[in-house]
Amino acid sequence: MRIWSDVEYVYRCLADTRRTNAFEAAIQATVKPGDVVVDLGTGSGIMALFAMRAGARRVYAVEIGDYLSQSARRTFRDNGFESGIVSLQMDARNLTLSDVEMPDVVICEMITTGLIGEMQGPVINALRRSGVIGKRTKLIPSYLRLKASLVHVDYGFSGFQLRFPIFIDYFSGRFERPMENLSTFADLCSVEFGEPFNEAIQARANYSIIGAGTINGLRLESTTGLAANTSLADSTSYCQPVIVPLDPLEVNVGDLVSLSLNYTMGRGFDDLNCDLKIQG
Ligand SMILES: C[S@@+](CC[C@H](N)C(=O)[O-])C[C@H]1O[C@@H](n2cnc3c(N)ncnc32)[C@H](O)[C@@H]1O
Repeated sequence: MRIWSDVEYVYRCLADTRRTNAFEAAIQATVKPGDVVVDLGTGSGIMALFAMRAGARRVYAVEIGDYLSQSARRTFRDNGFESGIVSLQMDARNLTLSDVEMPDVVICEMITTGLIGEMQGPVINALRRSGVIGKRTKLIPSYLRLKASLVHVDYGFSGFQLRFPIFIDYFSGRFERPMENLSTFADLCSVEFGEPFNEAIQARANYSIIGAGTINGLRLESTTGLAANTSLADSTSYCQPVIVPLDPLEVNVGDLVSLSLNYTMGRGFDDLNCDLKIQG
């Protein structure tokens, strides 16, 4: 298990106005005047500031990174919130009710597609075990759904074949590689952060093939729930769709293909396993 913390990426998140504005709207709709809020992985501190703007009485801003934690502390001071926002530099998984008051709202944006890469799953489960997240705690985001389709993608880089995970481009928000969709999307799993959930994902799906060719990639996309009836799918810094390399499989239109996808949330691609089989 490893921690992901990166200053440049936190800047990309901050500057991604589609993501940041959607979170501000969710925080405005959820945080009530006088609430206690815990912001897990505060990074730049923007979510903690939104919570104060929404009327929170106290915000606990938890961040593991040295530079990020110090810079968030300075930001809170620069904006006149040094007494309203308490900065805690620590691993959010170790937070207990001796560090924070029982929160009304927990904000945790450690989101990646399928929760494969970041620590959202382990952090939320740890805080449910320690009682920081209780039955009445409101969570932002509230859920994540994962879907996938089967594709053929060009893995050619600089004259080599490089079967490497392919992400959307930071700036355009699109896959910048030639690609053919050989199936439509199927739902793989759904995680409600307000309910106990298993960090080990064992997803299964069946596909009816819509184009003849060679499947060599699994295109994964996620959608998250932010506040009542609002959701956010991918953005340039959030839930970036990814194509996971697969062993090539020749298919024809009408073939039925079954997929099994296994991984553990927060472990990145290290224990991710995909298997495809033509049925019958
Ligand atoms: C995607 S960034 C989000 C930053 C900010 N909350 C925002 O939404 O703009 C995730 C943040 O979580 C922090 N982080 C990752 N794992 C952590 C952990 N286990 N405990 C505390 N912070 C963590 C990272 O350093 C990073 O600042």
